[in-house]
Amino acid sequence: MALSSIKSIAQIQSEASEEGAHTLKRSLGALNLVMLGIGAIIGAGIFVLTGTAAANNAGPAVVISFILAGLGCLFAGLCYAEFASMIPVAGSAYTYAYATLGEFVAWIIGWDLILEYLFGAATVAVGWSGYFVAFMHKLGVDMPAAFTQAPLSVVGTHTLVRNPGGVLNVPAMVLVLLMTSLLVIGIKESARFNNVIVIEKVAIVFLVIGFGFMFVDSANWEPFVPAAQGPGRYGWDGIVRAAGVVFFAYIGFDAVSTAAQEAKNPQRDMPIGMLGSLAFCTVLYILMSLVMTGLAPYTELNVPHPVDVALAKVPSLGWLNYLVDIGAIAGLASVVLVMLMGQPRIFFSMSRDGLLPAVFGKVHPKFQTPYVTTILTGVVAAVVAGFFPIALLGELVSIGTLFAFVVVSAGVLMLRYKRPELPRPFKTPLVPIVPALGILVCGYLMYGLPPDTWLRLLVWLALGLVIYFLYGKSHSRVGQMDTGR
Ligand code: ALA
Repeated sequence: MALSSIKSIAQIQSEASEEGAHTLKRSLGALNLVMLGIGAIIGAGIFVLTGTAAANNAGPAVVISFILAGLGCLFAGLCYAEFASMIPVAGSAYTYAYATLGEFVAWIIGWDLILEYLFGAATVAVGWSGYFVAFMHKLGVDMPAAFTQAPLSVVGTHTLVRNPGGVLNVPAMVLVLLMTSLLVIGIKESARFNNVIVIEKVAIVFLVIGFGFMFVDSANWEPFVPAAQGPGRYGWDGIVRAAGVVFFAYIGFDAVSTAAQEAKNPQRDMPIGMLGSLAFCTVLYILMSLVMTGLAPYTELNVPHPVDVALAKVPSLGWLNYLVDIGAIAGLASVVLVMLMGQPRIFFSMSRDGLLPAVFGKVHPKFQTPYVTTILTGVVAAVVAGFFPIALLGELVSIGTLFAFVVVSAGVLMLRYKRPELPRPFKTPLVPIVPALGILVCGYLMYGLPPDTWLRLLVWLALGLVIYFLYGKSHSRVGQMDTGR
């Protein structure tokens, strides 16, 4: 029975509109939400992965990969916007699934979102650590290498082995714990911190685009689509593989939806926050990837600091390199912040539904933040960031997020047929085409990811199932109401 229990929209809406000390504090306006989206989006994807994707997979046509991944996000984003305006609750895709596809799928998505948020925060923290350590080295400060690297590394695509040079990635752990402390203190304080960083990182990206375009050598764009050299390497196949890689760069616009219970006017502002930040970053990404592949031959971009390599082609732009480092260090920190903001709010919703223990739903009496889950998320993310290499984490985050996008798109489609009469402050346009394209494009990007990543996703979901059958199924509030009826 409980597996297919559906939580009623009316019930979700009434819970979301509760006020008082045990609820989250409504303090965010539309601009703050757009800024939160940009804070979560611009990060390791554009600063790191663009180079690898151009050099190994797509060549200058990585620009097309950005457009393709951006389209997938746009279709899914339009579906998110419908749900987020209709049921503006912190649980995001988890709650949307609960309202449409039933408790079982909701649990799976809730569990899957841990890959996006908790593991996403850890992944970007590891990327941040790399930039930070390199920057300190430029300034003449060297940290003991063993304490800047994880004790584990990946050989090939899947074998986890001991990394003899590493003990613990301390900078990554410290960053996660600092961001966690800020999130416990307050959503408003966190949003303010995020705003400052976003202004700075966007300004730096504008500078790179503006100055970079002046020095582009169009010979670097030829051939725009290098000839195919094997699976996933150049040609159309390479463009699709690269789209799967740079999809990571877009992750985060949906994190805005987890702030729904802290938004002053969520019905209006959720779509603005998600779609506004997504549109803005898509344009920046297309321009930025054009500039990077226009400044340097794509074959030279396979490095952890591709923006530096591109700029190094123009000696008179040397001054920008320092700014890019600062932009990346601050920018990646805000990604970690927003990801660590999203995760506890999903746990919070799951706990209020009884699928996780009640203690997870506790709100701090003074700060009005979900402090128990925030601290728990921070500690686990810090451990993951300290011990695991980035190669293992990145694709897992992408596949987990794509899966959630597919389910949200399917949810919109389903609810339009089942409950057409419900008021929808924001309506996904061109239904059923847009949700269907969301499912197809995101599904296609998932399909392009390697088999190892699929295997890890399945193992993770299987672990989630065990927990559901041991705990959630018997504690579910909706399930208990169903059996009581
Ligand atoms: N979109 C985020 C980044 O690229 C996750 O860092």
